Amino acid sequence: MPTDRPPQRTPLQGVRGRFHGRGPARQQGSAMSQSHRSSRISGFHKKSPAERLAIVSEFAGLGGAAAAKLSDTGNLDLDLADRLVENVVGSMNIPLGIATNMKVDGEELLIPMATEESSVVAAVCNAARQCYDAGGFTSSMSGTLMIAQIQAIGVADPHAARLRILGRRDEIKAVCDGCDPILLKFGGGFRDVEVRVLDSQGGPMLITHLIVDTRDAMGANAVNSMAEKLAPHIAEWTGGRVYLRILSNLADRRLARAHAVWPLDQIGGEAVRDGIVSAYHFADADPYRAATHNKGIMNGVSAVVLATGNDTRAVEAGAHAYAARDGRYRSLTRFEVTASGDLSGSIELPMAVGLIGGATKAHPTAQACLKILGVASAERLARVIAAVGLAQNFSALKALATTGIQKGHMALHAQNIAMMAGAVGGEIDRVARILVERGTVRQDVAQAILEDMRAAAR
Ligand code: MEV
Repeated sequence: MPTDRPPQRTPLQGVRGRFHGRGPARQQGSAMSQSHRSSRISGFHKKSPAERLAIVSEFAGLGGAAAAKLSDTGNLDLDLADRLVENVVGSMNIPLGIATNMKVDGEELLIPMATEESSVVAAVCNAARQCYDAGGFTSSMSGTLMIAQIQAIGVADPHAARLRILGRRDEIKAVCDGCDPILLKFGGGFRDVEVRVLDSQGGPMLITHLIVDTRDAMGANAVNSMAEKLAPHIAEWTGGRVYLRILSNLADRRLARAHAVWPLDQIGGEAVRDGIVSAYHFADADPYRAATHNKGIMNGVSAVVLATGNDTRAVEAGAHAYAARDGRYRSLTRFEVTASGDLSGSIELPMAVGLIGGATKAHPTAQACLKILGVASAERLARVIAAVGLAQNFSALKALATTGIQKGHMALHAQNIAMMAGAVGGEIDRVARILVERGTVRQDVAQAILEDMRAAAR
């Protein structure tokens, strides 16, 4: 890959003396003392990843083994990582699990999920199994429209200025569509303009919304470019001063919806059903509970968003803002009892995801995940993700309304604890099993079990 970087140096060349400390060479693995180290490192961004890692290693006393772990970028080429974000020194790998049993709109799907949290993948498998015979999930989408906002302040006549902007619709369309011919080619582009006069602490603001169909792109780049291009015109037409020009993550013209029915006999009877419905009522009535309820939904949503290289924070911001759209933070899902007594679940949330651009296109794992999903459009991906969110929520509520979540969590958590206690190979399962049997999943207990086990084997 061509590079405009200066010729490469060995990692530590040019590094010493860059810090305040100039004493004898430090031992590998010992951090610079607080008084000798400085985070003010000029030109850090111009260095190669290996050079940066050497600097960081010396700063933090990482040691060779830890540094080697960081620089092992696995299936993400270091050169590519270095071009995706700034100041790269390595990569952070997250487990990728596959949720089975999913059927969405009659289509059989395997769902790749990138998450560090145990039970998240299993929860989707379980929820999907329990509604599989009843048809699985159905889904729909409100559209693929994104909103960009342009903020104008100091407008003398905001209400008249609003009408002036609305009257320029054709010009606005021409400016916006001129920004992205490729988007136009794929059927996207400017759809509408809306203008709001916002009462703010700083007086009235004129907020122009560009409504843009971004098709298979998440659309941030497309709509941000349009907003920036149009901004000088807005300033001219309003006589005001334009500051912000940026998309809104409250993508409420891009709502993904999913629904499923869980038959009573599949979920364990009326008490379970009523417990799930009551859990939903709790979340819808109480923001303290709703935050946790929706976090559970996002466990599933963000795992697929991440696996496909999409922007988890954009989707999360949109979801939480949408949950608070009527002035109170509420549940993103709803659970009801059908006429025949089964459990009906539905979800609706903004889903700004794409198939093209950014990490989605560049990251080989994201590409493989999209292939596993077999989705042909961003809309399809969004709908599947909504179904995953609903599945995730169903499982969490079912566990919470019955046995509690700790039982399911503990099996995998116990394995983590066993590993942290030093168990290796077959020891991990054996120590984890004993921890779960004893109902005490703690590292000190795991260490004691491990010592006994090893002593008995001697
Ligand atoms: C844990 O990551 C998610 C849950 O707390 C969700 C919920 O309480 O609904 C189990």
